[in-house]
Amino acid sequence: MKKHLGTATKHRVISWGKQVFLVLALVPNAQAQKKPAAAAPVSDQKMKSFIDGLVAKMTPEEKIGQLNLVSVGFDVTGPVVSKDVDANIRKGRVGGVLNTFTPVAVRKLQEMALKESRLHIPLMFGYDVIHGHRTIFPIPLGLAASWDLQAVEQSARIAAEEATADGLNWVFSPMVDIARDARWGRIAEGAGEDPYLGAQIARAMVRGYQGPGNDLTKDNTVMACLKHFALYGAAEAGRDYNTTDMSKQRMYNEYLPPYKAAIDAGVGSVMSSFNDVNGTPATGNKWLMNDLLRRQWSFSGFVVTDYTAINEMMEHGMGNAEQVSALALNAGIDQDMVGEIFLKNAAQNLKSGAVAKAQLDAACRRVLEAKYRLGLFQAPYRNVSQERATSTLMKPEFIAAARDIARRSLVLLKNERNALPLKKTGSVALVGPLANRQRDVIGNWSGAGDWKQAVSVEQGLRAAAPGLKITYAKGANIADDPQMLDRLQAYGGELELDPRSSEDLIKEAVQVAQAADVVVAVVGESQGMTGEAASRAELGLPGQQLELLKALKKTGKPLVLVLMNGRPLTLNWEDRNADAMLETWFAGTQAGNAIADVLFGDYNPSGKLTTTFPRAVGQEPLYYNHKSTGRPYGGTDKLDKYKSRYLDVSNEPLYPFGFGLSYTTFTYGKPTLSKTTLGPTETLTVSVTVQNTGGADGEEVAQLYLRDVVGSISRPVKELKGFQKVLLKKGESKTLTFRLGPDALKFYNDDLKFVAEPGEFRVFVGGNSRDVQETPFNLAAQ
Ligand code: NOJ
Repeated sequence: MKKHLGTATKHRVISWGKQVFLVLALVPNAQAQKKPAAAAPVSDQKMKSFIDGLVAKMTPEEKIGQLNLVSVGFDVTGPVVSKDVDANIRKGRVGGVLNTFTPVAVRKLQEMALKESRLHIPLMFGYDVIHGHRTIFPIPLGLAASWDLQAVEQSARIAAEEATADGLNWVFSPMVDIARDARWGRIAEGAGEDPYLGAQIARAMVRGYQGPGNDLTKDNTVMACLKHFALYGAAEAGRDYNTTDMSKQRMYNEYLPPYKAAIDAGVGSVMSSFNDVNGTPATGNKWLMNDLLRRQWSFSGFVVTDYTAINEMMEHGMGNAEQVSALALNAGIDQDMVGEIFLKNAAQNLKSGAVAKAQLDAACRRVLEAKYRLGLFQAPYRNVSQERATSTLMKPEFIAAARDIARRSLVLLKNERNALPLKKTGSVALVGPLANRQRDVIGNWSGAGDWKQAVSVEQGLRAAAPGLKITYAKGANIADDPQMLDRLQAYGGELELDPRSSEDLIKEAVQVAQAADVVVAVVGESQGMTGEAASRAELGLPGQQLELLKALKKTGKPLVLVLMNGRPLTLNWEDRNADAMLETWFAGTQAGNAIADVLFGDYNPSGKLTTTFPRAVGQEPLYYNHKSTGRPYGGTDKLDKYKSRYLDVSNEPLYPFGFGLSYTTFTYGKPTLSKTTLGPTETLTVSVTVQNTGGADGEEVAQLYLRDVVGSISRPVKELKGFQKVLLKKGESKTLTFRLGPDALKFYNDDLKFVAEPGEFRVFVGGNSRDVQETPFNLAAQ
C-alpha cells in the first residue's frame, strides 16, 4: 500500500511542478491520507485558483479531451466501443473511463494519463454500480420495497466501499426516474411510481455513495451520478428510449421531486437521458440542463450524457454531427459518454462560432472541478491497492448485510390456508425455471457481481432446512417465444434451455409435486427480461410457466409461488389459485438465503410494493396517485355506462401501491389530528395507533397519504406524504406521530408557483394506499 502511495506522490511531483507544491501544502499528504477521516473539505476558492491555473495551460484540444468519456474493458453497455483509447489518453484526449475496474487495470490507465499526457491530468473511473458492486443487493425496485431508508443507504455505502477498493471513483447511480408503466423494462432500476418515496430514496442513495459529509476526497466515497435527466421513465407506451411529452405541472409535481432531492443532497454529477422531452432530446435540452438544473436548482456539478446520446440526436432529427455537438454543448452538457462527438466536432464548432470558447471552458472546468472534488489531483490512485481490494470485496459483514437487506425487500402478496411459513421437515417439490438459477437472482445491471457466488433459491432452502426432503424439477423453460429467446441470448442472458418438450417438463414436475407435501414454484422473468432495452407488451409469466402452474394446481397440493421479476406482472390466475405468493424481485447475492429466511418464517416479511400491480396490460400506465376525472367510477354503479372505466376489466389494480402482507396482522385506528383547522404556517401532527393483532412479532410500514380536495388545478386522489417502518411485538400497539409542515400541503400550480391553497384536505393512514382510515381538516386562508 505504501509503495503505491509513494508512486502516486512521485507522479504528482513530476506532473504538477510548482502547482503540486501548492496543493500538497493544502491537503493531507500521502502519509496523512492513511487517515481519510481527516480529509480536508474542498474550498471553492482554492479549487478555483487551481483550475484557473490549469485551464490557462490547456489547448482547445486538451479541453475537448476532458469532455470525452471512453469505455474500456470488461463490459459493453452500449452499441459502440471506444477505439484508440491508449493513444487518446496519451494525447490528453480522454477525461474519464467507464467499464474499467480492479486496482491493476485502473492503475495502468491512470499511470498512462499521469506520466504520458502533456498536462498529466488524472482520469476519473466510472461504472454502473447500480445495486452493489461485488456484493449485490436487490434490484433498486426491490430495495425500494423495503421502505427502509437505512437499508437503502447501507447498500449504497457498501457499494461505495467496494467500488473504491476496486479503483472506481464514480458510480452511475442513483437512477431516480419515476416509472408508472410496467411495460418499461427499466422500471426495475428505479424506486417505483411515487415522487415522495422516490425523493427519500434518492437522498439515501446519494448519502450512502458520497458519505454523510459529501467529502469525495475520502478513500471510500464515490461521486454519485443522478440519472436519467430527465423523465426517462415516462417513455410513451413503456417502449425504451421513446418520446416523453409532459406538462410542466406534471413534471414539477410528479416526476421531478426525486431528481431535485438528489441535487439538494449534493450529488456530484448528472447523466442526461436518451428520450426527448417535449420535442427536444434531453441531451440537447437547454431548458433542462441550464434553466432547471443549473439556474433553478443551483446544481454546480457536471453533466455527462448517456451512452452515445449526443450522436443519437441525429436520429432524433436534430441535425448532423456538427450540429448536434453544438446543440449538446450549448445546452450545458459537459462530457460525452463514448460517442466522441465533441472529440470530432467541438473544434469545428469553436471555429465556426457555433460554440463560444466560454462554453467549452465552462464544460471543461466542471469536469476538472469534479476531479478536484474527488481529490484526484492530490491522490490520483486514491489509496487503491490489491491488499485493500482483497480485504474489502465481499467481506463477511457485507454478505450478512446483503442477506438482511434482501429479506427486507421481499413482499408477501398472498398467504392463505397457512401455506407459509413452511415447515423444515417433510417434503417439498421445488419447481420452476428460476428455482436453481444463480445468474438470475443477482438481476440486471449487477455490475461486477459474480453470479457464481450468488445463492439460488434451491441452495438457500437446502442450507436452511437440511431435514427437509427437496426434490427439484424444472417444469418449464423461462421463455419459449423465439424472438424473446433470440434477444435474451444476444444480450448474454445465459439462459439454460431444456430441450425436452413443454409437456414432458410439466409431466415431470407434476410427478415430483404428487410425491411432496407442498409445492414451491419459482417462476417469473429472467433477469435479462428487465432493465435497459427490455420493454414488454405482455405482462404475464413468460413461456409455459402459467401452464405449469395450472398443472401443479391440479395435484391439489398447497401451491406456494416465489416470484422473481423486475416489474409488476399481471398475476390474476396466480392470485386466485396459489395459496401463497412471495415477490422476491432479483434479490442479489444472498437471494436464496433471504428467501429461505422468509419462507421458513425465520424472518417475518415486511416489504411493500412501490409500483401498482395491474390486472391487465391495458390498464397501464397505472398508478395510485392519479387524478379523479369528472366521471370517476365508484366500482358499484353497474348501470351507469358513462363513467371512466373499462368494459372488460376493473379499474382497480391487482395489488395497490404500498401493499404487502406479513405473518402477523396489523390494525389501524382512525388518525387524530392536532387541529382541524390549520393556519398557513402551522404544522399538523397526525397520530395513529397501530396494533399487532396477529400471532407473531412483525414490522409494518405505516403510510400517510393526503388529498387536497379542491385546488386551482386538479389534484391527485391521494399522495404519499409520510411513512414509518415500525417493529411491533405480538399484541403490542404503538401510537405513531407524523408531522406535516406547510410544504407538505403545497404543490406547483399553473404558474409553477409552489403554493398551498386553503380549503379541505383529507388525511389517510393505513398499511397500503387502498386500505386506509380517513380524517379531514381545513387549511385556513392567510
Ligand atoms: C446506458 C444506460 O442508459 C445508463 O443507465 C448507463 O449508466 C450507461 N449506459 C453506461 O453504461
